[in-house]
Amino acid sequence: MITQVIKADKESIIKAAQIIVAWDIVAFPTETIYGLFADATNPEAIKKIFIAKNRPSDNPLIVHFAYASDISHYAIIENPIQQLLIDKLMPGPLTLVLPKKDIIPSITTGNLETLCVRIPDHVLSKQLIRHSGVPLAWPSANLSWRPSPISSDMVMKDMDGRITLIIDWWKTLYGIESTVVKVSQQDNRYIVSILRPWFITKEDIENLVWDEAIVLYNDKGINESPWTRYRHYSPQSHIKIIDTIDDIDFKNIYSPGKKYALIATTEFLSDNISFIDTLHQDYSLITMPLGSLHNMIECIQSLYQLYSTCDELSIDTIFIQSLPEEGVWYALMNRIRKSVS
Ligand code: TXA
Ligand code: MG
Repeated sequence: MITQVIKADKESIIKAAQIIVAWDIVAFPTETIYGLFADATNPEAIKKIFIAKNRPSDNPLIVHFAYASDISHYAIIENPIQQLLIDKLMPGPLTLVLPKKDIIPSITTGNLETLCVRIPDHVLSKQLIRHSGVPLAWPSANLSWRPSPISSDMVMKDMDGRITLIIDWWKTLYGIESTVVKVSQQDNRYIVSILRPWFITKEDIENLVWDEAIVLYNDKGINESPWTRYRHYSPQSHIKIIDTIDDIDFKNIYSPGKKYALIATTEFLSDNISFIDTLHQDYSLITMPLGSLHNMIECIQSLYQLYSTCDELSIDTIFIQSLPEEGVWYALMNRIRKSVS
């Protein structure tokens, strides 16, 4: 199969929509990352997504809509907190788990009775959904267990020969996936569980729901989302999280012929510049700036790109700086920890 890359414009969006109607799949950007999309109501098309990504069949797909009013045709909005999250945070990088309606085939939800819904905040994504005329299942356009793509080049690396078309549109705005949340009810209280943390933080949701609901991270241990079950976002290298530069203990771990890289914020690199120079001279340590501690978006966008560069350079071990685990940084550290485990 030949994989073609074309620029996003009016014609290519219409071409992509025609491919959807013909039960096939295309790679296309949203504001978060590039995804592979297909008609969420068509089991034959959905099967092609699972095959192209090598995705386990019990790992469900997020379904994307153009308008909030479309959601209730495919899923059940059960309570005012779910409605509030839809009204205030969609369109945007928020995904909400709801009970599904029968119109969504079980292959789309990995046999779960729930459906993840999202409205992308990206002018092209919205046009595509409108032209297709159906809700679109849209997982990240990477092979399972590989970093999520933020450029069409990254998509090509994983999907060359596996799909027919990639639509290229500059870089994605955020470069990391949506926050996934679920609302449940316990003893007359609503609980918003954050199954996959991201840019929309626990604090953002707390400020929205006030005392109407409790907001919890539920992204570790508890098997609420199939997402927690699988390894994600891993480059081929071994990854070691370091708190200080002294944690790079080359005297004990260095092996000649192997390649080592350090991914850290610009502040960390400049604070330790002379020691890093020595490590570069003695052990050929390669340094890769993640971005500034004052620019979280820059750091998020760099992470998968740097992982991809490490794969290209056949790095054996990546040392990566530990980041503050609060607010939006929590999500970045969550991704880094996932790539280690
Ligand atoms: O930003 C995003 O969310 C991107 C763009 C393309 O929209 N999509 C994305 O999809 O990241 P994907 O398939 O790579 O990740 C969706 C995650 C999966 O790991 C899955 O386990 C979880 O959401 N998920 C899907 N349906 C679920 C459900 N019904 N209950 C709990 N978790 C679910
Ligand atoms: Mg994914």
